[in-house]
Amino acid sequence: MARFALVGVCALLAALSAEAQTVTDISADELVLRRSGGTPPVVLDVRTPEEFAEGHVPGAINVPHDQIEQRIAELEPYRDREVVLYCRSGRRAGFAGETLSRAGFANLLHLSGDMSAWHAEGRPEDAGSGPAETSVRPGLNETYLSPDLDVERYVGIFEGESREISTEREQITRALELKPGMSVADVGAGTGLFLEGFSRAVGADGRVYAVDISPRFLEHLEARARREGLTQVRVVRGDERSTSLEPASVDLAFVCDTYHHFEYPRAMLASLWQAIRPGGTLVVVDFERVPGKSRDWVVKHVRAARDEVQREIEAAGFSALDTPPVAGLTENYLLRFRRP
Ligand SMILES: C[S@@+](CC[C@H](N)C(=O)[O-])C[C@H]1O[C@@H](n2cnc3c(N)ncnc32)[C@H](O)[C@@H]1O
Repeated sequence: MARFALVGVCALLAALSAEAQTVTDISADELVLRRSGGTPPVVLDVRTPEEFAEGHVPGAINVPHDQIEQRIAELEPYRDREVVLYCRSGRRAGFAGETLSRAGFANLLHLSGDMSAWHAEGRPEDAGSGPAETSVRPGLNETYLSPDLDVERYVGIFEGESREISTEREQITRALELKPGMSVADVGAGTGLFLEGFSRAVGADGRVYAVDISPRFLEHLEARARREGLTQVRVVRGDERSTSLEPASVDLAFVCDTYHHFEYPRAMLASLWQAIRPGGTLVVVDFERVPGKSRDWVVKHVRAARDEVQREIEAAGFSALDTPPVAGLTENYLLRFRRP
């Protein structure tokens, strides 16, 4: 009897330790590094919504540890991704790890030191709450994220004469009212259509951040800035939920033909909010989407019409500014917002 009990205890311990082994620690530095990679990990904050609203790792999603079982459907899209768990000091992250591991999540990591260490080290934090955001259109950026992306083909598409964004790029740049010494971020910089004009406008003492998530475009942007001698350009690898820009580091963020490519618009708007200094500007250029009037391709490809885009951006805390139409733009609009 005693032997059976001992065997049972050993089996239980083995099962528990096998379960514990599925969650390994990851340092904050390693997390930051991995978030700038091709398939960044998902960061899951398992504290209460109140704790989350006080301050959390930027781009993290919040599902309290004791609600994971009921809300597992929200986490399904991340089943095959690395999921980094954290709470305040590690205990609840441990419980969450066990629950997720039982549900079959195999790539679980635990943020070493949890939020206590993240906060004590003065790392960037987002505030505010909200339910976990799911992708508005999974796979939306598959082509851009592919290591086989044919960059030269896209140079032809994005910078050709048939695209009004390209032919009107000088007018668009003028509408931004950039001044020498300013810092501007082109979020979703693509092939770098605006790099030269922005660099000229902010001058040698200014800064142009070219942010993208596409590994091939990022290589191209680096090479293009070097080739064209644009010393004020810094190429930044963002991810689907974050610009990866330092807090309050830019006077103006420019999102051209990219808002409709945001898979997680709420997370991206929170990240833009963090990156733009108070009083700074957000400019969005995107397709007019009017069923019956816009091209079929636009109606199918673009998620939201101008009014809806404006509402989403205002809901994220930005205030719309009066914007005169940009001459030459017939298929696209330009909206300007102030970050209070
Ligand atoms: C249609 S292209 C527009 C490129 C450029 N802005 C232009 O107008 O020529 C959309 C770009 O957004 C990038 N992108 C998609 N989601 C993004 C995100 N969350 N953050 C930064 N870039 C993103 C894509 O990789 C792609 O380069």
